[in-house]
Amino acid sequence: MREMTLEEKIGQLNQVGASIYGTTDESGYEEMAREGRAGSFLSLHDPERCNKLQRIAVEESRLGIPLIFAEDVIHGLKTVFPIPLAESCSFEPELARKTAEIAADEASACGVKWVFAPMTDIARDARWGRIAEGAGEDPYIGSLFAAARVKGFQGSGNIDEKHVAACVKHFACYGAAESGKDYNTVQLSDNNLYNAYLPPYKAAVDAGVFTVMTAFNDLNGTPCTVNAPLIDGVLRKLWGFRGVVVSDWAAVAEAEYHGYCENREDCAAEAAKAGVTVDMMGHAYDTFLLSLAKKNKKIQKRIDELCEQVLTLKYRLGLFKRPYADLSRGKDLYTREKLDVALEAAQKAIVLLKNDGTLPLKRGEKVLVLGKLAADKRTMMGCWCFPETQESTIDVLSGIREKFSADYADSADFLADVSSGDTNGYGAIICVVGETNRESGEAASRAFIGLKDEDVAMIRAAKKTGLPVVALILSGRPLALSAINSDVNALAECWHLGSVGGRAIANVLCGDFAPEGRLTASFPRETGQCPVYYSHFNTGRPYIAGQGCRCKFRDCEEGALYPFGYGLTFTKFGYSDLRAEKTKIGKGDKIEISVRVTNIGERDGAEIVQAYFRQNSCKPIRPVKSLVAFEKVRLRAGESKTVKFVLDPDRLGIIRTAALQPERAKGRCEAYVGANSEDCQKINLTIE
Ligand code: GLC
Repeated sequence: MREMTLEEKIGQLNQVGASIYGTTDESGYEEMAREGRAGSFLSLHDPERCNKLQRIAVEESRLGIPLIFAEDVIHGLKTVFPIPLAESCSFEPELARKTAEIAADEASACGVKWVFAPMTDIARDARWGRIAEGAGEDPYIGSLFAAARVKGFQGSGNIDEKHVAACVKHFACYGAAESGKDYNTVQLSDNNLYNAYLPPYKAAVDAGVFTVMTAFNDLNGTPCTVNAPLIDGVLRKLWGFRGVVVSDWAAVAEAEYHGYCENREDCAAEAAKAGVTVDMMGHAYDTFLLSLAKKNKKIQKRIDELCEQVLTLKYRLGLFKRPYADLSRGKDLYTREKLDVALEAAQKAIVLLKNDGTLPLKRGEKVLVLGKLAADKRTMMGCWCFPETQESTIDVLSGIREKFSADYADSADFLADVSSGDTNGYGAIICVVGETNRESGEAASRAFIGLKDEDVAMIRAAKKTGLPVVALILSGRPLALSAINSDVNALAECWHLGSVGGRAIANVLCGDFAPEGRLTASFPRETGQCPVYYSHFNTGRPYIAGQGCRCKFRDCEEGALYPFGYGLTFTKFGYSDLRAEKTKIGKGDKIEISVRVTNIGERDGAEIVQAYFRQNSCKPIRPVKSLVAFEKVRLRAGESKTVKFVLDPDRLGIIRTAALQPERAKGRCEAYVGANSEDCQKINLTIE
C-alpha cells in the first residue's frame, strides 16, 4: 500500500467487463491491466485469455499486482446443475455444497477466482424472473442453502487452488421488488426485513463469505449501493463483515437515475462513504475518486481502506503466489463423475405435483412426446449458464428415448384427427410445456405466468384421445397451472435441470428414481394471486370457507394451488403418534416433539418431514407458520420411523433489530409437523 500511488489504489477498485457482448478486441483491457487501472475483470473464463491479461498485470505493470477474474457461475460452468430454485427443492443443503464445490473446481480451472454466487434473495412473487436463482420464499431454507453454497465455493479458510471466493447477493432484498418487476422499488417493514429477508445474507456472512454484492433496488427510499446504514451500518459494523463489497453492474452510477445523487461524482462519493469496495462497470470510481480524494481527506482515507480490502482478497485467494490458471486442469472439466452429481441433483429437484397412478410408466413402453421444449437443449440448461456444453446436454426427448420408445411432435396439431380410442399403441402422451430459459432469470419479469394458450390446447387435445396425459413443466419459476390441473393424469415440475436434466426426468418417469422434491416456492392458482407464500400473516379476517368479508379473492379459490413444502412420491406416508414431551415449556426447557412416519405404500420412498412454529400473539405480529426444522427420511414399503425435533424457544421468537438475534418465543404457541406447510398436525404449547 505504501508503494502505491492514489491512482493505483483507485485502479484496484475498478472492475470492467472483459469480452462483453462478444467483443474480442481486448486491447483496451490490456492497457488497463498494464497501467493498473483495473483490479478485476468479469465475464471472462477462457484460461488462456485470463492468463494473457494476468501476465501483463503481473509482469508489465509497475507493481505487478495480480488481477482477479470474476464470473457469474450461478449453477455450474461446464457441468451445468439445476437452477438454484430447483436445487433447493431437494431440501439437501449438503448436495448444494457439493455442486458449488464442483462449480468452483471448474471455474478455477478456467482462471476464475471469484464467482457472483450464491444469490440468496428471498422471493415470494413468481412474476419475478430471478426467483430462479435463489432458494425460494423461506428464510430458514434460504439460510441453509446460502451457507452450504458459500462453503462449497470457498472450502474452508483461505482459498486453495480449486476453490474460489463466493459473493452473496443481492444485498439487500432485491427479491421483494414491487409487483415482481425486476429492478423495481422495495418497500419493507422492519418486521419483514429482519424476520424474512435479511437472515439468508447473514447466514452467508456467518459462513465466511469473502464478498457481497449490492442490489440494484432502492430499499425504503435509499438505493442499496449508496446506502451507508445498510452497508457500513448493518453489514460491516453490526455483522462484522470485513471483505469486499462489489456493486452490481453500474449500480454506483445508477444512484443518479434513482434520483438520489445529483450526478455521477456524487454517486462515487456516496458509494465510497457507504463502504462499496469495487465499482463494477459504473466508471464512477475511476472517473471521480481521484478528484474527490484531493478535495476530501476522508475520501482519501476511505480509498486506502477499500484498496486494502481488495489486496487482502487477492492474498487470501493466493493470487500473489499462483496468479495463473493451470491449463492442465482443462481435462478435469465436465467429467462423468461431475455429471453423476448433476444427475443426482436433477433427480432430487423434480417435484411430483399430481399422479393418479399413471406414473411410473412401464420402461420400454411406447409413448408420444409433444411440445417444442422437449427438444430444447438450451432451455434445459437454465437461465444463467454458458452454452459451451449445450450440444451434449440431455433434453427431455433424448432422456425419454433412453428409457422408452418415443414418437415426437412439437405440437398437437396432428392430434386433431386422432379420434379417441385410436391410441396407436401409445401407453401415454407426455406434454412438455412451460417457459424457455430466456423467459426466466434477469430482466424476465412476467405479468402473466399461466401456461401459453398453445400449451393448454395441446394438453386438452391430448386428453381428448383418452390416453393418460403426463404434463412436464419446464420453468424457472412457479407457474399458474389451474388451467390444466384437472386435465392431466400426472403433473411434475421439472424446472430447468442442467446438463443431464432429460435423463433425470426419464429416470423418474420410469420409476428408476422415485421423486422426492418438495416445493420451496408456492405455486399460485392464478397470476393475480401473486405474491403467494405460506408464511403469511393471519390478518384480522383470516379466510374461512363460506364466509364473506374475509381475506380472499372473489374470483379465485384461496391459497396456493401447490403450497410450500409440497411434493408427492410413488408411495404414501402415514403420520401417527404426534406428541410433545411437554406442552408447558419453562425456562431452560426445549420443545421436544416426535411423530411416527410409516411408508404405507408398496414402493420405497423418501419423505421430508417438516416442523413449523407459530407464536400466536406478539407485538408486532408473527406469521401463521414458519419452517423451523425438517428431516428427509427414506423408508422401505411398510417401514416406520419415529422422527424427533428438538426446538429451542430462545431461537423461535421475533427478531426486532438488524442484529438478527431472535427473542424467546412466549405465551400461546403452536408447533406443526407434517408433509408440507398445509398438510400438518398441530400441537398447542405454552411457553413461559
Ligand atoms: C447482473 C446481475 C448480477 C450479476 C452481475 C454481473 O446484472 O444483477 O447478479 O452478478 O450483473 O454479471
